Amino acid sequence: MIGIVGGTGPEGRGLATRWAMAGEAVAIGSRDLGRAEQAARDLQSKVPGASVHGGINAEIVAASDVVVVAVPYSAVQPTLQPLGEAMAGKIAVSVVAAVEFVDGRPRLVSVAAGSVGQEVAAILPGSRVVSAFHTLSAEKLADCDASLHEDTIVCSDDREARGRVIDLAEQIQGLRALSGGRLANSYYLEQFVGMLALMNRIHKAHTGLRIADVEPRPA
Ligand SMILES: NC(=O)c1ccc[n+]([C@@H]2O[C@H](COP(=O)([O-])OP(=O)(O)OC[C@H]3O[C@@H](n4cnc5c(N)ncnc54)[C@H](OP(=O)(O)O)[C@@H]3O)[C@@H](O)[C@H]2O)c1
Repeated sequence: MIGIVGGTGPEGRGLATRWAMAGEAVAIGSRDLGRAEQAARDLQSKVPGASVHGGINAEIVAASDVVVVAVPYSAVQPTLQPLGEAMAGKIAVSVVAAVEFVDGRPRLVSVAAGSVGQEVAAILPGSRVVSAFHTLSAEKLADCDASLHEDTIVCSDDREARGRVIDLAEQIQGLRALSGGRLANSYYLEQFVGMLALMNRIHKAHTGLRIADVEPRPA
């Protein structure tokens, strides 16, 4: 099962939608049980027959083997610290961008660990941390009728975990997943989200990323 911590927000809901459409079982996590259950009901009505469950973050972590971290950067430490033991041995996928929004405009945040992915790894030393999905627009993911024609770059120091997340990414129709190598490399992705957000504003679009002239190699 794929659990999504912070799954009630736009990015978590969007990813949950696409995996539900692909037939994956999804658990939506929240600090609040009612919000999680409501998000699960919303998804069930959007994707009839979906296997979706809502629960508080700690509960969905316990039930999942892959846990997506989809909270804002400022919430990463307080959210993940208490989940460390429950996350041991599991794959933690950070989608967290190193960007905050002020008056609708992106502003980079400074991350002492180097990248958010590395910060997640420091908070969850027993987990297999992967960084991915940063460049996917929440709005486009949530729109079941929108076709995707884009890439996601997947970074991790754990080759097997990176491969598992590449496989999960490619369950999403229209999405190609490319290995981006080591976890530290996710620094570039986490910051590039700021440029995509600006492109969205300038061009009134939901932009994504497509890497030209590359034939994917195994994870
Ligand atoms: N939105 C996008 O298009 C997009 C694209 C790529 C990557 N991302 C990344 O994906 C992540 C989630 O984005 P989002 O737009 O979905 O974010 P969001 O709506 O701001 O937050 C997602 C969820 O995190 C929880 N949360 C919020 N503040 C919290 C806090 N202080 N402490 C603990 N939990 C908190 C909330 O869930 P509960 O209140 O239910 O607990 C909220 O629904 C971000 O790191 C963002 O950088 C977003």
